[in-house]
Amino acid sequence: MRFGIRTIDEFELEGKTVLCRVDINQPVDRKNNTLKDITRIKASVPTIKELSDKGAKVVLLAHQGSDIEYKNFYTTQPHSVVLSQLLGREVQFIDDVCGPAAREKIRSLKNGEILLLDNVRFVSEEQTLFELKLCLTHEQQAQTQLVQKLAPLADLYVCDAFAAAHRDQPSLCGFEQVLPSAMGRLFEKEYCVISELMENPAHPCTFVLGGAKISDAFMMMETVMSKGVADTVLTGGLVANIMLAAMNEEIGSGSMEFILKSNYGEYIEKAKELYLKYPGIIKVPNDLAYVKDGKRCEAVVGNVPEDITATDIGSATAKLYSNIIKESRTVFINGPMGIFEAEETELGTKTVWNALGETEAYTVVGGGDSITATNKYGLTEKMSYICTGGGALIRFLTGEELPVVKALRHAAEKFK
Ligand code: 3PG
Repeated sequence: MRFGIRTIDEFELEGKTVLCRVDINQPVDRKNNTLKDITRIKASVPTIKELSDKGAKVVLLAHQGSDIEYKNFYTTQPHSVVLSQLLGREVQFIDDVCGPAAREKIRSLKNGEILLLDNVRFVSEEQTLFELKLCLTHEQQAQTQLVQKLAPLADLYVCDAFAAAHRDQPSLCGFEQVLPSAMGRLFEKEYCVISELMENPAHPCTFVLGGAKISDAFMMMETVMSKGVADTVLTGGLVANIMLAAMNEEIGSGSMEFILKSNYGEYIEKAKELYLKYPGIIKVPNDLAYVKDGKRCEAVVGNVPEDITATDIGSATAKLYSNIIKESRTVFINGPMGIFEAEETELGTKTVWNALGETEAYTVVGGGDSITATNKYGLTEKMSYICTGGGALIRFLTGEELPVVKALRHAAEKFK
């Protein structure tokens, strides 16, 4: 038992059917039916391998794509191919989640065999919109089709999906109500590293917050500043644009339209409050970049053209941020500085990421896009710790008990 949660060491696994929830959500190349990145899949391998090596019949549940920020559900079939390669043993796949075909397949598994079910979010109960609109309790989640159909076939539920631990969905929080449950090795490791860092980071401690997952970013900013964890918060991406808008700076009509269209307008007020409360800690860009006629252009804040969309921090800001990173002793990074996928707007992310590679600080990278950027710039080996979670990491840093942690603790009490 660790953190009030059981670990897989406490269970006899030989011949047992184990439902194992993993987070192998990855960017997909739909044209070729392949994955553009496999970091999370690699990170999930140790738990799956251990369960299989110990003779369990392993049933993997996973989601692919989000219904909130982007509509991009996709099958988990390509993930089974990658998993088979990484494990060196077959990972079977079935294009069903909890229907008769999936259940039949689960019943037919032999000891040590591994089966990946299709995207759990193909089941409507599992979607984030469903979670947010209906707010089911964990007991109610145990009544959903997914849990009702699969739990009777299993002996144990293992959650290794730390990256989705902030989601309150049946595949993550429902099974703990009806099955003995444990966290997997990845979950345990991520929880451990992050909680230790949060409690005792080496100072100066810098948070680099970019990207477009706004609600998460704003939620944790206040906690890490008020608790004295963060000495500096460097903002980039949409987080920076919202901060600048809160300070009544021109960010370009395209940037503003994007903020309002994404329903992030309310965060402008929140940003104002935070900036006034912690003026020395939050840093905003001095210059911004945008694309005009296919070329990168930069403008100093205060002199930004009205008709642009800011898609990167400017080069002066990137340099300034890099210096701060190099002088830090701990750096948390979540979210890129701009649209780093395009050549014209990658300078900010590339410069900041290179500084992360060079700093002596303990660097913790979290979130899908941040991991993709780390891989793109060949810095994977240079980072101290790469956390598979983005939203989950940030939510964890708010100090809130994550829904999955709560559910796993409940199971530890209920099934002693
Ligand atoms: C992630 O990509 O952060 C996790 O897989 C959770 O995905 P979600 O934000 O779509 O729930």
